[in-house]
Amino acid sequence: MEKTKYILIGAGGHASVVASAIEAMKQEIDCVFDSNESITHMDGIQNKGDYSPAQFPTAKLILAMGDNAVRKRLATTVQHEIGTVIHPSAVVDRLVSVGVGSQILHGAIINRRSVVGNHCIVNTKASIDHDCIIEDFVHIAPGATLCGNVIVGEGTLIGAGATLMPNITIGKNVTVGAGTVVTTSLQDNVTCVGVPGKIIYHE
Ligand SMILES: CC(C)(COP(=O)(O)OP(=O)(O)OC[C@H]1O[C@@H](n2cnc3c(N)ncnc32)[C@H](O)[C@@H]1OP(=O)(O)O)[C@@H](O)C(=O)NCCC(=O)NCCS
Repeated sequence: MEKTKYILIGAGGHASVVASAIEAMKQEIDCVFDSNESITHMDGIQNKGDYSPAQFPTAKLILAMGDNAVRKRLATTVQHEIGTVIHPSAVVDRLVSVGVGSQILHGAIINRRSVVGNHCIVNTKASIDHDCIIEDFVHIAPGATLCGNVIVGEGTLIGAGATLMPNITIGKNVTVGAGTVVTTSLQDNVTCVGVPGKIIYHE
């Protein structure tokens, strides 16, 4: 079967992990685009510099940076068809939907009836249990655990190893600190840290 060709925007650590997932899917990466001219190659893949819609026009594009706001901004400007990445070691239930541009990485689990929006990251060994709704441009960092029936609003970061208790709603553009245990719903634009989670900033 013909391989799907991908291009990535970004050549940092997250892009490198996305490239690892695409290679594990036995697909190919034509190039990366990163404006940092000191990077000529990422893991042997050529950096073509600033994004150009004319290059590799049939390749599928992935916004391969962890920053949710940057992915959201770039999503409105790129012209390639958007791809989706699901590492073969991820467990994604058959009744789950995953939106375009999303990146389900090594060992992640997404359980029954959950919905993952567009341009999300479900990072290494993150776990999303049943009936969760993950809106667009969310990043679930490595090892974070979402219990069942959790809603996560657009642009939110759930930090590494955080735990979200069942049946809560996390607002848009929220930051949940690494290792935090979130026990109640959170409104938009807050930063929540600790065990149990407390709000430290409200933008
Ligand atoms: C929550 C977070 C964004 C706060 O960063 P910040 O705005 O720079 O805040 P600071 O480091 O100045 O910390 C502010 C206070 O919160 C505390 N704090 C910060 N992060 C915390 C965390 N994860 N758990 C508990 N307390 C935390 C600090 O100790 C500090 O307390 P103090 O005021 O009593 O000294 C950051 O610490 C964090 O956890 N980011 C998530 C990182 C991550 O998982 N990224 C995923 C990459 S793949």
